[in-house]
Amino acid sequence: MKVLLINGSPRKNGCTFTALTEVAGEIAAQGIETEIFHIGNEPLRGCQACGRCQKQKLNRCTFDDDPVNRCLALAAQADGLVVGSPVYFAGINSALGALLDRMFYSGGGQLAYKPACGVVSCRRGGAGSAFDRLNKYFTISNMPVVPSQYWNAVHGNTPAEVRQDEEGLQIMRTLGRNMAWLVKSLTAAADSAPRAAEKRARTNFIR
Ligand SMILES: Cc1cc2nc3c(=O)[nH]c(=O)nc-3n(C[C@H](O)[C@H](O)[C@H](O)COP(=O)(O)O)c2cc1C
Repeated sequence: MKVLLINGSPRKNGCTFTALTEVAGEIAAQGIETEIFHIGNEPLRGCQACGRCQKQKLNRCTFDDDPVNRCLALAAQADGLVVGSPVYFAGINSALGALLDRMFYSGGGQLAYKPACGVVSCRRGGAGSAFDRLNKYFTISNMPVVPSQYWNAVHGNTPAEVRQDEEGLQIMRTLGRNMAWLVKSLTAAADSAPRAAEKRARTNFIR
């Protein structure tokens, strides 16, 4: 069993990483493997709405020159997913948004029924709206959202400040334990997962 943690920050060892490390430590303590994937600083285009992934049933993005498909392949193989983002103007950072838009639009079906959660890191404000945005990717993709004891945010502008956020770090550890519990429970119950119950309807509000 393995949980993939995506660090959406361009700062590899920054505040988001500090939060994810706390989550990963608790998942590992419960006997589950973890891997942190850094989206890094490479240029990352937004979704071009070309529709090739859908028309050609690629199950991946047609553009293969950045981390999107590598990240999707790792997530598809994992049993659980944690996505971490710094808060930028009360939202997730734009490079991470570009990656998640393309990853979930082209290959989100491969992530169904895997437990998932978002984690956000901010200096002062906007954590709620960023957290809400992350959860939207999971709940549109049949991914059960892992709970914690509060909404999943840490506060600080540097890793040292985050390490002073006692409550934030406790929220991360609780999240890690709950992720491990759900990964183990859902792995045990894999045979009863609902698979493609109905063909998906898309009506665009016109009928
Ligand atoms: C472009 C930009 C916008 C930001 N907007 C916010 C914001 O709206 N609210 C906030 O509290 N912090 C904001 N911050 C601060 C970061 O969210 C905060 O420092 C975060 O912990 C950085 O995480 P990282 O070290 O993983 O990148 C912003 C930082 C940048 C670079």
